[in-house]
Amino acid sequence: MAQPADAALYATGEKVFKGNCASCHKPDKDMTGPALQGARARWEGKGDIYAWVRNSTDVIKSGNAYANELFTKWNKSVMTPMALSNEEIDAVLYYADNYVPPAPKTPTDGAPVPAGEPQDVAFWPWMLVIGLLLLVVALSLGGVRKSLTNAVRETEGRGPVPDRTAWQSFKDWAWHNKTFASVLGLLLLTWGIVSAWDWALTIGVYGGDTVEHYKPEQPIRFDHTLHAGKADKGNLAINCVYCHNSAEKSKHAGIPSANVCMNCHQAVGESQRNPWSTAEIKKIHDATGWDGKAYTGTPKPIEWVKVHNLPDHAYFNHAQHVAVGKLECQECHGPIDEKMDVAEQWAPLTMGWCIQCHNEKEVKMAGNGYYDEVMARLEKNEKLGHRELKEYLEDEKITVKELGGWECAKCHY
Ligand code: HEC
Ligand code: HEC
Ligand code: HEC
Ligand code: HEC
Ligand code: HEC
Ligand code: HEC
Repeated sequence: MAQPADAALYATGEKVFKGNCASCHKPDKDMTGPALQGARARWEGKGDIYAWVRNSTDVIKSGNAYANELFTKWNKSVMTPMALSNEEIDAVLYYADNYVPPAPKTPTDGAPVPAGEPQDVAFWPWMLVIGLLLLVVALSLGGVRKSLTNAVRETEGRGPVPDRTAWQSFKDWAWHNKTFASVLGLLLLTWGIVSAWDWALTIGVYGGDTVEHYKPEQPIRFDHTLHAGKADKGNLAINCVYCHNSAEKSKHAGIPSANVCMNCHQAVGESQRNPWSTAEIKKIHDATGWDGKAYTGTPKPIEWVKVHNLPDHAYFNHAQHVAVGKLECQECHGPIDEKMDVAEQWAPLTMGWCIQCHNEKEVKMAGNGYYDEVMARLEKNEKLGHRELKEYLEDEKITVKELGGWECAKCHY
């Protein structure tokens, strides 16, 4: 296809499209919503396409016939209201009408990216190699020294040094180098204890830097990088809370039901990335009883394998951290939308991990409704609790710890 005449407008349109529309529309194909190509022409004389894109529900409610026809045809799926200017909408429609499909992908393009960070090159094999080299040098030097000694003794008319076992030589050596030998012994002992301790600490710990991240196989190959990854990398950029919708209001973030998947996968039966996608998406259809035209079968829930498991005696609340603490999901779950084609436990979830963040993290109080009262008191410099005020004045910031984030009872029942 020819290049678009106005490359700048096309580029703007592409950006707006990928940021706002790509999770439901394709320029040239039907998806959750209709192909956008030709939409401007279809709206000619039938209604205000700008108003439609900004808030389709209003246009439907206004009784516009074409809008209502569309809405019914597309299973009453609702378009998200969007604050876009006429220029931006013009650009998107231009982009759609002049859409140039990307060059076909090579088969390897779609291959799942290996998850996780590249592992640090372990340094102990090198230690071993160097150790062995040193040993060889030491042994051969020992051999040279022995031959020299023997040669000297021979010229002096004495017999060669009697052969000793390695252990005897070692004892002799240690006896003559007592300080050095004790230090070495102590070092070895410490190293042994530390390694054993480290190892003991990793029992039952799955995330963190120390051990391989826990990443169980799931019943459907759901890929966070594709669904939640950035739009400019060709991904769908669906907001985390679209699926994990209780993260902002309750203890649990929650796993979406198959009906949430069906908002899109009723229409999207395959991906353009992987040949196995049809079979995987069919599992969603089976789970909801969708036969391709109607919901007829018996729904049977998808049994996702839980990745994160805090012990029962520890209390963790998502709303506290996401809505009140204003933390990004990624601070605790890592680059799930960038690197994890299979969800994994990224943080160690140990008590030390919780405590460390509470010790460092400053509570975001400015403009945070939950803290308006505390802020107002600070600004008026009225009496706060003694400890609060003292610690605030010391370093001008309040950490989670200073608000009680280290109290055992906050995290333990
Ligand atoms: C959450 C999904 C969703 C998003 C995001 C979305 N749309 Fe839609 N769109 C739909 C659906 C579904 C329809 C079909 C009508 C209906 O059901 O409301 C539609 C219909 C349309 C139509 C009418 C097409 C026709 O054939 O007349 C236009 C134009 C349109 N969308 C533009 C956009 C633009 C531009 C964006 C981004 C700025 C966008 N949409 C974002 C779901 C979406
Ligand atoms: C389209 C829906 C969808 C979106 C968007 C989505 N997720 Fe998920 N997420 C799931 C599903 C389904 C699972 C369960 C299957 C799995 O573990 O892969 C899951 C699992 C997880 C898990 C592991 C849960 C466990 O069992 O312990 C975490 C953590 C997670 N998501 C975080 C995120 C974050 C952070 C984002 C945004 C960057 C996000 N998700 C976006 C659907 C979604
Ligand atoms: C302060 C750290 C932290 C933040 C921020 C955080 N999570 Fe979690 N998340 C956890 C911990 C800890 C668990 C394990 C909870 C358990 O086992 O009870 C977890 C578990 C989950 C699970 C498994 C299901 C569940 O509810 O237990 C999902 C899904 C999830 N998180 C998604 C999210 C999303 C989406 C966000 C952002 C909106 C987010 N998390 C923000 C720490 C965090
Ligand atoms: C907002 C729309 C939307 C939602 C919600 C959604 N998906 Fe998707 N999903 C897509 C699109 C679009 C594709 C195809 C992407 C492509 O062609 O590149 C896709 C692709 C897939 C694939 C094929 C993956 C691959 O790598 O080829 C699977 C499996 C899948 N989705 C599972 C799910 C599951 C499970 C859920 C619910 C937890 C879900 N999706 C929710 C839009 C969505
Ligand atoms: C990345 C940083 C971070 C991590 C990791 C983290 N938290 Fe927090 N936590 C916060 C912040 C920030 C707040 C303050 C929220 C607010 O403003 O109340 C908080 C508040 C809390 C509170 C309320 C404290 C109070 O004084 O009321 C509890 C309970 C809590 N966290 C438990 C946990 C547990 C359990 C873990 C580990 C599984 C954990 N947190 C891990 C940042 C973190
Ligand atoms: C910010 C949250 C938080 C605070 C505050 C906290 N703990 Fe913990 N604690 C945890 C978490 C999470 C675990 C589970 C760690 C694991 O399974 O590795 C845990 C585990 C434990 C365990 C079991 C041993 C272990 O390592 O699994 C004991 C005992 C314990 N905590 C005692 C305390 C005491 C005593 C205090 C007060 C001085 C305290 N905790 C304060 C979060 C907290």
